[in-house]
Amino acid sequence: MRILAIETSCDETAASIVEADNYLPKIITHAVASQIEIHSASGGVIPNLAARLHVENLPYILKKATDNGRERFDAVAVTTGPGLIGALLMGVTAAKAIASTKNIPFYAVNHLEGHIYSAWLAPKNAKNFAPPQLPALIVIVSGGHTELALMHRHGYYDLLGSTRDDAAGEAFDKVARLLELPYPGGPEISNLAEHGDRHAYKLPISFNDDFSLEFSFSGIKAHVANIINKLPKPIPAHIKADIAASFEHTVAETISLKTVNALEQFPGIKSVCLVGGVAANKYLRSYLEQKINQSRPQVAFITAPLEYCTDNAAMIGAAAVFRHYFGRADDWKTAQADPNLNI
Ligand code: KG4
Ligand code: ZN
Repeated sequence: MRILAIETSCDETAASIVEADNYLPKIITHAVASQIEIHSASGGVIPNLAARLHVENLPYILKKATDNGRERFDAVAVTTGPGLIGALLMGVTAAKAIASTKNIPFYAVNHLEGHIYSAWLAPKNAKNFAPPQLPALIVIVSGGHTELALMHRHGYYDLLGSTRDDAAGEAFDKVARLLELPYPGGPEISNLAEHGDRHAYKLPISFNDDFSLEFSFSGIKAHVANIINKLPKPIPAHIKADIAASFEHTVAETISLKTVNALEQFPGIKSVCLVGGVAANKYLRSYLEQKINQSRPQVAFITAPLEYCTDNAAMIGAAAVFRHYFGRADDWKTAQADPNLNI
């Protein structure tokens, strides 16, 4: 079974063919057209422009992912939400057209579930890839979401905690703007932070107690804004680096604290999966791994391969592979794009 997956929920137009291979997703092809450079000029994603660019890019991306129509596929999967409605509709329309004309199964995939299944994608050239074992604690950190979820079995999740305000990626983007860095802020902050002192500024951790699994990142952003307001302008490069490093450290510490709290509250968890755009952050990846190894060495730590952390279609195909094995297909006639879909 090979699934053609399409992702257009935000500012990446992506398509991929993923094979259901012995209860694992195997990537056959993978193509992404990023709109980042275009949106970067305005400091964030412009919804109408994103939708127009999907119209422009999608035919080429589909051509590439299917190798000019030479690669066969037996089903189609598409992100139906959450995301920007105009952007989502582009992928959904294309997928419905493909499913109806080819008369093949159709899978409506939740974008967050796609991020979750990125942890089941083996890194390139991995010899002994061990996929996550269930029950797993899922840590989703993206531009729009920050959630802790308990995954008992394929397709079943209990939401344990989420952010009350900004998402982790949103905080990176907002702090980057305060430091006059371009969008998206995550990679920019991360590069700058390498030259800074992680403990130069003490920044707040919200809901900082032993039990809370809730997040809030608006306080840390406000704190950084206060620090910056009091600094002489232009801000010297080494001070910017110290702010970036302290911010990155505090976000990593926040996510680690909540993850370890959850592991203590749910002792049967076998693996932790760190997924979403912010999971591409190398400092967070290694900091969280270290904290889990210290407190629960028997729990496996799995992150998505770097190139599949930010939005892509391989993860949507991976989610559809598990629906093929453990769930069922959807009816393309009734499937709807839903900008506010939850997991
Ligand atoms: O998952 P994603 O591609 O889109 C959403 O579903 O939201 O995540 C995008 C977010 C952006 O906020 C971006 O700044 C952040 O992921 N991001 C990073 C890094 N790479 C991307 N944040 C921290 N460090 C990174 N290396
Ligand atoms: Zn995403």
